[in-house]
Amino acid sequence: MASAAHAEFSFVLNGKRVRVWGNAPQTSLLDFVRANGLTGAKEGCAEGECGACAILLVSENANGRTLYRSVNSCLIPLPAIADREIYTVEALAESGQLASVQRAMVEHNGSQCGYCTPGFVVSMFAEQHRPDPSLPDPHALGGNLCRCTGYRPIRDAMLAAGPVPEGPLLARLSQPAPTAAPLDYRTSGGRFSRPRSLAECLQIADEEPTSRFVAGNTDLGVVTNLRGERFPHLISLENVPELLEFHDLPDLVEIGAGLTLTSIGELWERNGDVPPVFREWLPLFASLLIRNRATLGGNLATASPIGDAAPLLLALDAEVRIATLAGERIAPLSEFFTAYRKTILAPGEILRSIRIPKPIPIGTRFYKAAKRSLDDISTVAACFSISRNSEGRIAKARLAYGGVAAVPLRAIEAERQLEGTFGEPGDLTRAKDSLRHTIVPQGDHRGSAAYRLALTQSLLDKFWRRQSGAVAA
Ligand SMILES: Cc1cc2nc3c(=O)[nH]c(=O)nc-3n(C[C@H](O)[C@H](O)[C@H](O)COP(=O)(O)OP(=O)(O)OC[C@H]3O[C@@H](n4cnc5c(N)ncnc54)[C@H](O)[C@@H]3O)c2cc1C
Ligand code: FES
Ligand code: FES
Repeated sequence: MASAAHAEFSFVLNGKRVRVWGNAPQTSLLDFVRANGLTGAKEGCAEGECGACAILLVSENANGRTLYRSVNSCLIPLPAIADREIYTVEALAESGQLASVQRAMVEHNGSQCGYCTPGFVVSMFAEQHRPDPSLPDPHALGGNLCRCTGYRPIRDAMLAAGPVPEGPLLARLSQPAPTAAPLDYRTSGGRFSRPRSLAECLQIADEEPTSRFVAGNTDLGVVTNLRGERFPHLISLENVPELLEFHDLPDLVEIGAGLTLTSIGELWERNGDVPPVFREWLPLFASLLIRNRATLGGNLATASPIGDAAPLLLALDAEVRIATLAGERIAPLSEFFTAYRKTILAPGEILRSIRIPKPIPIGTRFYKAAKRSLDDISTVAACFSISRNSEGRIAKARLAYGGVAAVPLRAIEAERQLEGTFGEPGDLTRAKDSLRHTIVPQGDHRGSAAYRLALTQSLLDKFWRRQSGAVAA
């Protein structure tokens, strides 16, 4: 049953329930908290790049443990927070005492102008409270940028913050995270619904052709904030159980399209069997702040030619499961992308899950060439997978690329040059010649066409050298 329409909802902000009434659905959470006097979170970029707007979202991990997830509040539409619980930097100091991460920042000179500092402190706090006894990992701060202090003192502060002190914010984690009820929020500025089932999502989308699905909003939010686009009706996929399933079966892994990248990592970890290529791919995708919200389905459905999931999944022969009002269909991912930013999804259809056949070939490797090694968009991404038969011949070759055409693609011709061979130097040369003749990249501010074409071959060379044991990585 659909939920009743309302122009209001509530959520818990720094331990107190607040009521939201009449704000347009695409108001960002950042704008809301700042307009309510909580100006610790800053707007640096409004596109998820700097982390100055980080806040803590009370969530549950794959093991059912309550934890604080640091997220970019500039990319969260306000109604997405209905019924949920967040903390801003203002809540971290307790009884007039700085939190230990704040004190560590002071003691290690981790702040100069201070603009980035609240965001860093929030990410440090989430990392310090992570339910894992290992040392804090400074990579958790990878989505926070600082323009003046330099990162060494900040890293030192993170490492020196020490164990989590007792207090209400630690005690909060012994209680469950709130569950989000269905929502139908309507104002003169638009509508935001959060249905509770796949069938309801499909139904609402069918009734309102101008509606748009939203998951983590890390793509759509950038369009909203920087290009000023407004969507009359957003249908949130966050609360749809069918999209949050994860099945690691003997012959395939099926990953719900609505799972965030962080959750996928945790679910795979819980099963104790994270494929090595996924382990190397995950930290190269954006930053923790983004991965805590970005979904796998959103990455494919947005169909960016430089999206990082497509090359990985193309090399693994993944399939997509698509939900429609008339039923479901399954298609190979290699047929999913039809043109620049276009897919086989018809309006109102939902990407339900991604299916990866098992076994995942051990030697599969992912490479990302970007201007920065972490927290950057790919210039070219590539994923290579080779399976050999008992004689040592290449039975199956998969060479998948992003950033070299209007759509992510497999270099089928080059794959054919390798299949059936022993993968000797001459075979590799023929495959690289084939790449030169079949791939026609476009140049842009991230890299010229010639540079991208050269990368298709040099990344393959790198993979081959590693396969043959000539280099370590
Ligand atoms: C700072 C920053 C860094 C980034 N870095 C990377 C990176 O390193 N690599 C990379 O690949 N991407 C990167 N991205 C892009 C983005 O984070 C990903 O594409 C992300 O996976 C999108 O998922 P989402 O859930 O946020 O999608 P949303 O923004 O919620 O949705 C994106 C689109 O997909 C549609 N959609 C979402 N889910 C479904 C579904 N299940 N069925 C049908 N349609 C659906 C929506 O209608 C919308 O059109 C970055 C983005 C930012 C802001
Ligand atoms: S303002 Fe830069 S990430 Fe939100
Ligand atoms: S202290 Fe100035 S941006 Fe970090």
